[in-house]
Amino acid sequence: MQEVTDRLIDAFEAEGSADLIHEFAFPLPIYAICDLLGVPREDQDDFRDWAGMMIRHGGGPRGGVARSVKKMRNYLAELIHKKRENPGDDLISRLIEASDHGEHLTENEAAAMAFILLFAGFETTVNLIGNGMYALLRNPGQRERLQESLAAGETGLLETGVEELLRYDGPVEMATWRFATQPLTLGGQDIAAGDPVLVVLAAADRDPARFSGPDTLDLGRKDNQHLGYGHGIHYCLGAPLARLEGQTALATLLRRLPDLRLAVEPDDLRWRGGLIMRGLRTLPVEFTASP
Ligand code: HEM
Repeated sequence: MQEVTDRLIDAFEAEGSADLIHEFAFPLPIYAICDLLGVPREDQDDFRDWAGMMIRHGGGPRGGVARSVKKMRNYLAELIHKKRENPGDDLISRLIEASDHGEHLTENEAAAMAFILLFAGFETTVNLIGNGMYALLRNPGQRERLQESLAAGETGLLETGVEELLRYDGPVEMATWRFATQPLTLGGQDIAAGDPVLVVLAAADRDPARFSGPDTLDLGRKDNQHLGYGHGIHYCLGAPLARLEGQTALATLLRRLPDLRLAVEPDDLRWRGGLIMRGLRTLPVEFTASP
């Protein structure tokens, strides 16, 4: 993770400016998951292009998206085929080997699993890094506190800080659909069996009955059981990976580009549309260039 993070910063640190979404937050989780799955480095930029097409046109023109999904699935199917012949030390090889009471996954099932991991872990992590860095840039006192703690070689504030950033402005605003299994009354609202229920995680995470000063960013917040990764049996499978990505990305940006600042007025930033995800389209920043 550290190597992927450093490689991305190396590419723009001499410029003195960057769009942190496109040049950093967007490729980082793709390269990280590709490494984990066992996608060779020379093919990872194809993944970056396909994923870019899917995220840019999500909800827009469908042709390009469908083509990119197909290319990605075909690529994964072929890779699984190759790994079956020639296993490596990677997740795809483990998925092929995995068995449940002697029954192995079919190649189709393994490809679908790899695809889900890529998808579930991609835009979410882009937004953790983007929203998180934006919140730090808007809260200079908290950002300074974190920079001082990192300079002292501590990791405690980084760990609680990433959890707080997930609570304060998390990447996933709403959980996926739920359906009531029996009639119930919730918050004065009658819900019949079978009714759909949309849980707004972002509202729960700013609930004044649960969090003191919910609209304040406090990187050292204790008792911070937020719902950024969901709850219960569908709790995020990738939470430990996302934590590692978020911590590595934010700490490395603050360490290597200590005077990082917004290059535009906050009002000029554009956020993605849609109800489920919350994230910036671009995050233009400036900093002192390193040769
Ligand atoms: C900051 C980054 C992430 C956030 C905020 C996030 C958030 C969530 C949330 C809220 C859910 C529950 C949805 C629901 O209950 O309807 C979820 C489920 C899931 N996440 Fe994540 N996620 C992140 C990163 C990842 C990563 C990196 C991976 C995999 C590599 C991943 C894989 C999954 C999977 C497979 C599920 C479904 C689990 C199930 O239904 O049993 N996520 N995530």
